[in-house]
Amino acid sequence: MSATSGKAFDIPLIRRILTYTRPYQSRFRMTALLTIVLALLSPVRPWLIQYTVDHFVLTPNLPMLLLFCGIMLGILLLETVVQYYQSYLSGWMGQTVIRDIRVQLFAHLTRFKLQYFDRTPIGTLVTRVINDMETLADIFTDGLFSIIGDLMKLVVVLGVMLYIDWQLALISLIPVPFLILATWMFKNGIRKTFQEVRNEVANLNAFTQEHITGMSIIQAFHREAIELEKFKEINRRHRKAHIRSVWYYSVFFPVVEILSALSIALLVWWGTRNMIYAEHPTVTPGRIIEFILYIYMLYRPMRLLADRFNTLQMGIVSAERVFKLLDTDASLKDTGKEVPPQVRGEIIFDHVWFAYTDENYVIKDLNLHINPGEKVAIVGATGSGKTTLINLLSRMYEINQGRILIDGVDIRDYTLNELQQRIGVVLQDVFLFSDTIANNIRLFNPAISDDTIYEAAQAVGAHDFIMRLPGGYNYPVGERGAMLSVGQRQLISFIRAYVYNPSILILDEATSSIDTESEQLIQQATNKITEGRTSIIIAHRLSTIQHADTIVVMEKGEILEMGTHDELIRRNGHYKKLFDLQFTR
Ligand SMILES: Nc1ncnc2c1ncn2[C@@H]1O[C@H](COP(=O)(O)OP(=O)(O)OP(=O)(O)O)[C@@H](O)[C@H]1O
Ligand SMILES: [Mg+2]
Repeated sequence: MSATSGKAFDIPLIRRILTYTRPYQSRFRMTALLTIVLALLSPVRPWLIQYTVDHFVLTPNLPMLLLFCGIMLGILLLETVVQYYQSYLSGWMGQTVIRDIRVQLFAHLTRFKLQYFDRTPIGTLVTRVINDMETLADIFTDGLFSIIGDLMKLVVVLGVMLYIDWQLALISLIPVPFLILATWMFKNGIRKTFQEVRNEVANLNAFTQEHITGMSIIQAFHREAIELEKFKEINRRHRKAHIRSVWYYSVFFPVVEILSALSIALLVWWGTRNMIYAEHPTVTPGRIIEFILYIYMLYRPMRLLADRFNTLQMGIVSAERVFKLLDTDASLKDTGKEVPPQVRGEIIFDHVWFAYTDENYVIKDLNLHINPGEKVAIVGATGSGKTTLINLLSRMYEINQGRILIDGVDIRDYTLNELQQRIGVVLQDVFLFSDTIANNIRLFNPAISDDTIYEAAQAVGAHDFIMRLPGGYNYPVGERGAMLSVGQRQLISFIRAYVYNPSILILDEATSSIDTESEQLIQQATNKITEGRTSIIIAHRLSTIQHADTIVVMEKGEILEMGTHDELIRRNGHYKKLFDLQFTR
């Protein structure tokens, strides 16, 4: 697809947008039909006025006058009704199509690899799903149908004028080329300022979002004044861009007014000259009134067309961006078929290599064999690749080389669903949704009853602390769990993992220090939750892992040492050094 060409009439793109109207084919046809009817109705009333004036006003005929006024009222009503349905349907169409594309887009995003999100700013994706979709909706409400409708009206009215009296028509249309020129200049100018406004709005969004999220840092480091200055600067540019667009409008609209007045002046001048001086006058007073109305009908849509072209153009640009995202295939391949009946929980890393980007290997030729039911602890300096290693096991990221086997089966051969159900993960950074504790535990899975949650919480040893919170399990945790302590958040995530009763458990300890009470609770919970299953514990506090079956020491993506606590202490190597460091502190 072309990279944001932004042509107003990018036919393949418009066709692609229109494919989304297919399920609503009959309504779409109806809207098109009503648009045509509106265009055809537009010259009727002026013509009736002319007829009435020339036949029943200049030679008075009250009954006929009343009759024709009635007819005109009828047509007016008809136009109003048609206009109502046309606007309603095209708005309905726009919003319905937007809903469909937006849902498709979000579903598409949820299948993307995590790697994609590492590289794409959240703000950009939010803009695609929200703002771009809104602009796309305008294609239907203010863009396409209105433009086609206006163009048809123009053609019909112009045709009728030329047919009725081509001389009168041509004379009164002399200013039109100037109008076209002015419209063209206005369209280009306003488009640029609109784009500037949009950019500044995006900047405002990004700035506000990031700074509210990072408010604690701003306050802690007394950056308020400096950040405020930056904010003022963005606002200054935003205001400037807006004012420029206001300027274009305030110049363009009076110009259109002057030109249309000029048209009418020419019309009246030529018409009255014909009426008074011509040998065989062709122009009547009714005709002049009729033509004045036509001229208004020509000028108004032409004035609006400039705006509508911009709307269409912006919609097209948005559509291009949205479709580009829809065409991006960054999904995790879920082609595995394996659904073994039982799980033992044997894990083998076999010459595994992995890099987040290019050739910067974070895991290098790693081999590790974990027996069913074994408790393995991984320790190592920050950045040594511990979290990465477990991300690979649940296919959060795909390995570059080698194999990872669970129960002898390559993890890529399991269905994603099957794989992820077997592995319970307690992540280092616990993410909680802005909802109640109960909902964060069951993750909106209705199959998990309240009782299951209470039991799990009791087993893990977190029931008491939850009950002490106002509202207990219905306590709202706030955005990202902001209203809980780090230790409490991790406990919630323990319950979450426990409820799913996984065969393999992965525990990535929080790096941040937690209070002694939470630490004890977490220690208890760890013992409980690892009972009877293969478990991998990434430990930052060595005190928690002395009873592990195997301790693995990692550095720079490689395994340095492996063995039980006692073996490693006796060996007097890396582990011993780490241990001494922590316990002499
Ligand atoms: N999403 C990512 N994209 C690119 N590089 C990453 C990403 N996550 C981690 N890394 C890099 O991979 C390396 C290993 O990171 P990892 O998170 O596995 O360390 P860790 O051993 O868990 O450290 P910690 O003890 O601090 O949790 C680091 O050098 C880090 O910079
Ligand atoms: Mg980590």
